[in-house]
Amino acid sequence: MNQPIPTKNLETLIQNELIVPSTTDNQKYFFRSLNYLGSKLRMLDTIGEVITELSPEGGVVADLFAGSGAVSRFLSQNRVVVSADIQEYSRVICSALLNPSQNIDTTRFVDKCQTSNFYLDLRTACSDVFRYELESIDLAVNGLPSQLCEFLEEASLLKSRSENYKNCSARLEQALKSSHEKLIKLGCEEKSFATATLYFGGVYFSFEQTAAIDAILNEIESAKPADRDTLMAALLGTISNAVNTVGKQFAQPIQPRMANGLPKKGIVSKAKKDREINIFQSFTEMLKKYSEMESSGFPHSALRMDYSDALDKLPKNTSVVYADPPYTRDHYSRFYHVLETICLRDSPAISQTKVDGKLQFSRGLYREQRHQSPFCIRSQAPSAFTTLFEKVANIGASLVLSYSPHVVREGEHPRVMTIDDLTSLARNHFRTIYTVCPGEFKHNKLNSRANSFEQKLHGEVLIICKN
Ligand SMILES: C[S@@+](CC[C@H](N)C(=O)[O-])C[C@H]1O[C@@H](n2cnc3c(N)ncnc32)[C@H](O)[C@@H]1O
Repeated sequence: MNQPIPTKNLETLIQNELIVPSTTDNQKYFFRSLNYLGSKLRMLDTIGEVITELSPEGGVVADLFAGSGAVSRFLSQNRVVVSADIQEYSRVICSALLNPSQNIDTTRFVDKCQTSNFYLDLRTACSDVFRYELESIDLAVNGLPSQLCEFLEEASLLKSRSENYKNCSARLEQALKSSHEKLIKLGCEEKSFATATLYFGGVYFSFEQTAAIDAILNEIESAKPADRDTLMAALLGTISNAVNTVGKQFAQPIQPRMANGLPKKGIVSKAKKDREINIFQSFTEMLKKYSEMESSGFPHSALRMDYSDALDKLPKNTSVVYADPPYTRDHYSRFYHVLETICLRDSPAISQTKVDGKLQFSRGLYREQRHQSPFCIRSQAPSAFTTLFEKVANIGASLVLSYSPHVVREGEHPRVMTIDDLTSLARNHFRTIYTVCPGEFKHNKLNSRANSFEQKLHGEVLIICKN
């Protein structure tokens, strides 16, 4: 049987789960880049204090599963940070959070996007589908929602074309077809200039919005290399706020009807509210936030890399590795695939699923070969964690591992590994292991039975491993 986990009662670490930090200086380093599942914004103070205790002299810290960059940004205020994540969108955001470009003339940049021939051409090509979408929303607001429901379900340029418009009414088919053909004449099949419009227009955003997103993307391509990550991070934040889905993620487009075919309650006002968000205005606000962001000036870096490769590349003076891998079978790449495609602009093939024996595009329009993390796969997770423990111990750093206890609440998937399993793997590589539980810990003193810990706690724990 496993040894109980020794718990360090760090009174100072156990603070309320406050988003607003205690000092104004700290506050400058709290930044919500995206609407992000599993962001550690609420635990930053605790993570910061644990790391300061492990490395009071301010050694280099690596943030290995950096996601929305909240932890990297927070830690960068007083030490060098190397952030890494397998996804390009995360690299872009971390790069902007760690080394924001302060030289961007926001108004001029947005003006250039709005007045570009590129944007004008795109708008002209899409005029039929713009009109149709506006009409659908107008009808719905006036009590006739069925055209809008059909639009939300079927108005993907790529999907409807691949299915030969079989589920579209004649008028929707005409609007989609004519816009798509004009885009093809402009050359969208050879060059990926209309990525947002082709892949996500109609489904996740209004076509008005995707034309603006494409105009911004096009202008970013010709911006100075030193400004590009900041511009792109501001665009990703804008997209994340605008998307017309439940919960502002990208795993599922909105499903407008109930099982009986009737429109869901609130669907019309939500579609109208989200789809009317002005992308240029929202981008301007986001870009200002990035441009005004303070930077500590340390030589930080952001990598797009598998955690195991990143561990081989860390500087020799890395003193702490912070690791926040996924802990359920839900792959992050499914929730954020739109951000990845927007960043890469690589015209990916869309994954297909079988419906009634026939292959058709996945409803979420996912990229083919979306990243499948070993941390989300029960049979692969133990070996992925072993690699993590072994490589961190080999570079002589301490590890702070965020994980969630094995408590399943309604609507949640079970954890891929238990805290007990993790700590017993860690013991093969580290002499000292203890846990710190932010927030809820103070109400749940551990007793000697390790499994009561699994049952009682709901929040996240930090497992600290050192030699
Ligand atoms: C729980 S999230 C991290 C959240 C982050 N700490 C924050 O506050 O936003 C997990 C992250 O791990 C990344 N990831 C999953 N498998 C990975 C791998 N093999 N190598 C590197 N990153 C990986 C995902 O892309 C995702 O961004």
